[in-house]
Amino acid sequence: MNDTGPVLPRGYDEMPIPFGWFAVALSTELAAGEVKTLEYFATEFVIWRGEQGEVHAVDPFCPHLGAHLGVNSDVVGDDLRCPFHHWRFNGEGGVTDIPYTEVIPPKLKRSCLPAWPVCEVDGVIFVWYHPRRAAPKWEVARLPECPEGEWILAETHDWVIDIHCQEITENGQDYAHFGAVHGVPFAPAGEMKIDGWVRRSTVVAEMETPRGLMTGKIDVTATGPGQSMTEFIDVTHVVQSQQVTPIDAHRTHLRWQMYHIPGLSDGRLRVTAARMRDLVKQVNQDIPIWNRKRFHDKPLLVKGDGPILAYRQQYAKYYDFDDDAEPGNIAARH
Ligand code: FES
Ligand SMILES: [Fe+2]
Repeated sequence: MNDTGPVLPRGYDEMPIPFGWFAVALSTELAAGEVKTLEYFATEFVIWRGEQGEVHAVDPFCPHLGAHLGVNSDVVGDDLRCPFHHWRFNGEGGVTDIPYTEVIPPKLKRSCLPAWPVCEVDGVIFVWYHPRRAAPKWEVARLPECPEGEWILAETHDWVIDIHCQEITENGQDYAHFGAVHGVPFAPAGEMKIDGWVRRSTVVAEMETPRGLMTGKIDVTATGPGQSMTEFIDVTHVVQSQQVTPIDAHRTHLRWQMYHIPGLSDGRLRVTAARMRDLVKQVNQDIPIWNRKRFHDKPLLVKGDGPILAYRQQYAKYYDFDDDAEPGNIAARH
């Protein structure tokens, strides 16, 4: 028992952690010369930003005599220096300097410390996670084209939620909950298309606004299991860049960066801010359910539930850990 009730199995022990690009920090959270130990994917790793600005990630233990590279280490130039005997490593995990030895064995120079692929896009640092360390299979998505000028970053949010990451992104395909949980007055009419590692959905929903009911369009492009961009086009034009990152099979770190178009009048800025508040309100409506639900691998679904099974069919590809795993193509209309 905990203080809210018995802790029942929730099905997550049986669910693997998917492979993919996952956000591990915002760019602003890692200054040049800074080192951090991060805990995601039921493991840990060390990231640092070199003095030139590039971010690198490696396994935590020094291959020499095993010091933890996130504790009392430092950045020298673009390299990470181990605190124990001052070996230096580059972003590929190769040794670049050993202060007390003249010749570094070529094998150590090439690479002796497993490195993680890193990519920094639109203010977010991503690493590629694959339990067998297969190479990245797709590229991190960028913000959509801004219709005028550049997107303005208005808000960032993040939450740690007691749920497997697959369940958070399933929420968008769960059409019936929009009415029950979020008060959307009519079940949204949507379309979902899966194209390789990318899933696109368009949902047209009636929304209550201060000016009465209006039709809004929501375009979601999910690239892999860890990243999605949602464009809300109604009285405002907002992009919600979302990343979900598994801490382990039971906990997920959810991040949002919310952007709007430039040059908005005060009136439209107010509407935009209200729209963003509403999105945050919606996730806060989902979270209590997410924190305590369980995963049913054979849910009782009826007409109107949305393309949940098509979503799961694609998602299963992220658990195919063979190096040559290929995506499928699935289309579902509702
Ligand atoms: S343990 Fe890292 S340099 Fe020796
Ligand atoms: Fe929701």
